[in-house]
Amino acid sequence: MAPARALPEVQSPSNLEATQVPRCSVDRAISVAADLKARVTVTQPYLPPLAEFLPYLEKIWETKWLTNNGPFHAQLEAELCDYLGVRHISLFANGTIALITALQALRITGEVITTPYSFVATAHALLWNGNQPVFADIDPVTLNLDPDKIEAAITPRTTAILPVHCYGRPCELERIEATAAIHGLKIIYDGAHAFGVRRPRGSILNHGDLSVLSFHATKVFTTFEGGAIVSHDATMKQRIDYLKNFGFADETTVVAPGINGKLNEVGAAFGLLQLRHMEKVFASRAAIDARYRQAFEIVPGIACLPAPLDYTPNYSYFAVMVRPEYPLSRDELYRRLRANGIHARRYFYPLITEFPMYRKLPSAGRQNLPVAMRISGEISVCLFIRLFRRANRARSSHLW
Ligand SMILES: Cc1ncc(COP(=O)(O)O)c(C=O)c1O
Repeated sequence: MAPARALPEVQSPSNLEATQVPRCSVDRAISVAADLKARVTVTQPYLPPLAEFLPYLEKIWETKWLTNNGPFHAQLEAELCDYLGVRHISLFANGTIALITALQALRITGEVITTPYSFVATAHALLWNGNQPVFADIDPVTLNLDPDKIEAAITPRTTAILPVHCYGRPCELERIEATAAIHGLKIIYDGAHAFGVRRPRGSILNHGDLSVLSFHATKVFTTFEGGAIVSHDATMKQRIDYLKNFGFADETTVVAPGINGKLNEVGAAFGLLQLRHMEKVFASRAAIDARYRQAFEIVPGIACLPAPLDYTPNYSYFAVMVRPEYPLSRDELYRRLRANGIHARRYFYPLITEFPMYRKLPSAGRQNLPVAMRISGEISVCLFIRLFRRANRARSSHLW
């Protein structure tokens, strides 16, 4: 298992050199980005040196094994279990198919309580599985499902809870699990943002009945497209593996109406290579996160989400709240950033419940989701990964 990453040391303004951190307001940030003459995107994948990838490709060319549980696929499953500290992993072509398969694997029916403050795939997976999403409000600090609101949303038709570790910030696991235990509900955590997030007692992916990961290009760990289900026993892993391969148990036996959810060998090989670079990726992101926190500290009306205290984060997103004291509204700031080449995103906006396939659900009413509505209107997510590159060129050879 990989050694637990230490929480980054939080540096106080006084122990950082003036030259190291641009003492920037948002205006300063915009001008630095404009100087770069590059489009600054919300995140950027880490691509290891191409030369390191070529031997993997040569192997694939040599064996001509492109998909269907090939050697890189098997190796990545084993290495990810070890790296993440989980028992079983089933790789998938993407996180959405993994979510749908997780619901199938647990034979979830009826109503499922979930969050409106997520990427649409979370709720879409429920519709694809014929479940009724029941939206409950989020907690204003964790931005995850509020355990009290889950309790209030339970009906006789509820069978499961689908919480999201939003931005990789852990849900209130024990409270959610206590509620699920009392009411006999299953839990599938959408851990699309939560690769590598650990608490002192281990990976947060060990919680719930199943956890789902996304390895999409925007994620901290990527296989270009990809995803995974984390399960805790061999029987469940076997069922998931049947389901992701059309239900085939062997050459002539189909045990379930499965789907094609397999990750191919090129993606798996890229995952193996990327895994070798993850500590560097996390360290780079931690440095960027620390610089943002310090820079924004002096900007009235721009608030960062609280720094992690009791878990090891993965720095997958850098979200800022635009408060009323700030001279521009969230949307004005977003447009101004965009006009200057900074492609920040408004997350999650609109809320899932505003989309036509959800808005008529009783639980989708705005009055039911006041916190999610407010947060959806306040947050811009912007990890301007390249922003500080020039300012720190001398010292930042490890930054992207
Ligand atoms: C919270 C969440 N769930 C599910 C998904 C879907 O994952 P994928 O894009 O790999 O299908 C994403 C997306 O990227 C996500 O952010």
